[in-house]
Amino acid sequence: MTPSDTLRYTRISTHGSGAIPAVGFGTLIPDPVATKQATRAALEAGFRHLDCAERYRNEVAVGEAIHDAFKAGTLRREDLFVTTKLWNTNHRPERVKPAFDASRRRLQLDDIDCYIIHTPFAFQPGDEQDPRDGDGRVIYDSGVTLAETWQAMERLVDDGHCKSIGLSDITLEKLREIVAVARIRPAMVQVESHPYLPEWELLDFCREHGIVLQAFAALGHAMEPNLLADPVITAIAERVRKTPAQVALAWAVQRGTAFLTTSTKPWRLQESFDISTLPEDAMQEIRKSISTNVRFNSVVKTGVPGFIPGTR
Ligand SMILES: NC(=O)c1ccc[n+]([C@@H]2O[C@H](COP(=O)([O-])OP(=O)(O)OC[C@H]3O[C@@H](n4cnc5c(N)ncnc54)[C@H](OP(=O)(O)O)[C@@H]3O)[C@@H](O)[C@H]2O)c1
Repeated sequence: MTPSDTLRYTRISTHGSGAIPAVGFGTLIPDPVATKQATRAALEAGFRHLDCAERYRNEVAVGEAIHDAFKAGTLRREDLFVTTKLWNTNHRPERVKPAFDASRRRLQLDDIDCYIIHTPFAFQPGDEQDPRDGDGRVIYDSGVTLAETWQAMERLVDDGHCKSIGLSDITLEKLREIVAVARIRPAMVQVESHPYLPEWELLDFCREHGIVLQAFAALGHAMEPNLLADPVITAIAERVRKTPAQVALAWAVQRGTAFLTTSTKPWRLQESFDISTLPEDAMQEIRKSISTNVRFNSVVKTGVPGFIPGTR
């Protein structure tokens, strides 16, 4: 990195919670001990944006890692941006605040920087996170609309412990509907995005409305076709003397999105944080020369995660 290259420290302005660190660590890790170690490693590598969810069933471990860093004096609350998410079984308005407060308790945080509706799909309310009928089909909840859940989210902002709110796994069509009726606009939208699924139209809409687009699967979920083996990405990596992962992540920030990546390996977290600005021709080449189009995660169609802790 040249001393002036501050790409890794990019913050994207939004309404509600000031500026969101573009470089984010995702905590979708099956094992709580591994979660705590990886979160600690991510903080040590420099990540200041953590993405959590009640669905990941490991908020306690994330909270412990954060508080260890607070106690050690290596991290200040004001430097950290924490997102967590409302699960599908808690969309009924009366369930939103209890779910939010439970996440705050598990994370041991008074305030959440951004609280996100994990998917636009409401599941049967209750303690079972994955409710299924006798034939194994998901039981959806037709008794609540996304707009009603959004209003309950807005009330969390009014109450003061939630700095901003957002949506995830949402289509442009549904996002338009919420933006049209929102009293408090979404600060962030978290969707799958990478060079094989750039979502330019969604990004344009988000920009127009001051919403941060946060890309998950920024490295392609380590699935096939392997984004990190794409000839366009590997050729640029060689040219700029970076790794393919660093090229994909730099591209994400430079085009104006935030991103999430996950690893349990400290050296990979250091690598993923160590991004530098790409030359403009490399940015254009990724946009124009890659024609592969893949969605790796079908959660956007069903509300059912592609993989969940314990199954990955
Ligand atoms: N809203 C949603 O529905 C949703 C869905 C999925 C994910 N997410 C969020 O997004 C986060 C990111 O997860 P993801 O799977 O999408 O992330 P990803 O970064 O696209 O993929 C992670 C995979 O890439 C590997 N990897 C990490 N760093 C690497 C590097 N520098 N070089 C090469 N390979 C590397 C990891 O392997 P190792 O572990 O072996 O290093 C891991 O298997 C999740 O933790 C979660 O917070 C949200």
